Amino acid sequence: MVNIVIDGKKIKAQEGATILEAARENGVQIPTLCSHESLEPSGACRLCVVEVKKGNRTRIVTSCIYQVDEGISVDTQSERVKGVRRIVMELLMARNPESEVIAELAEKLGVTPQKRFIPDEDKGKCILCRLCIKTCESIVGVSAIGFSGRGAAKIVGTPFDENSDVCIGCGACAYVCPTGHIQMESTEDTRTIWGRTFKMKACDVCGRYFAPEDQLKYISKKTGVPVKNLSTCVSCR
Ligand code: SF4
Ligand code: FES
Repeated sequence: MVNIVIDGKKIKAQEGATILEAARENGVQIPTLCSHESLEPSGACRLCVVEVKKGNRTRIVTSCIYQVDEGISVDTQSERVKGVRRIVMELLMARNPESEVIAELAEKLGVTPQKRFIPDEDKGKCILCRLCIKTCESIVGVSAIGFSGRGAAKIVGTPFDENSDVCIGCGACAYVCPTGHIQMESTEDTRTIWGRTFKMKACDVCGRYFAPEDQLKYISKKTGVPVKNLSTCVSCR
């Protein structure tokens, strides 16, 4: 354990923990967008900035990737932190003017859109945080989506923006996306995502459509459990 101070409160934090983890563990709220407990942090949105004092030196760091260190003092609400957070928020709003999540977060933080940043009209709601790509790669194990383009033209999608034949329609990417960028539409027996429509499987017991057939086939292939044994929804199991 290491001894640190967060917002004047002395706490013991687990060695190797990030400042964000230590703060949350102790009830200190730091705004975040791209951090997810099941995935490695990437420091993409920069909203979680805090000020760290170590010896005589203070600096602004990204709390979701900066690890705690013996004797550091962390300020999550200093004027400098608020200033940086405001600019990060203004940039996010300019890049993603359509995102309700970003607009709500900005309102909560008391930040309004500024004319100095020209809003992008063509980026949708994506903040390029990579959570969807990492989820698809490392949790689902499919790698159906990735980034394409460079710089301001960078977007997330399927290779060459074509229907992915490896996508199983699980929707994990849409679920994990912090800004609601990924469109997933459902009817009673279909699910459409990334331009492909998947047929849903009806539960053998209650008849409710509960998962894409391709997802069940994928699970069966991975686990060796026959598809017929995966044909019951969670409630009827
Ligand atoms: S689509 Fe969502 S999860 Fe994927 S990179 Fe964009 S904001 Fe992040
Ligand atoms: S939550 Fe830390 S950079 Fe996004």
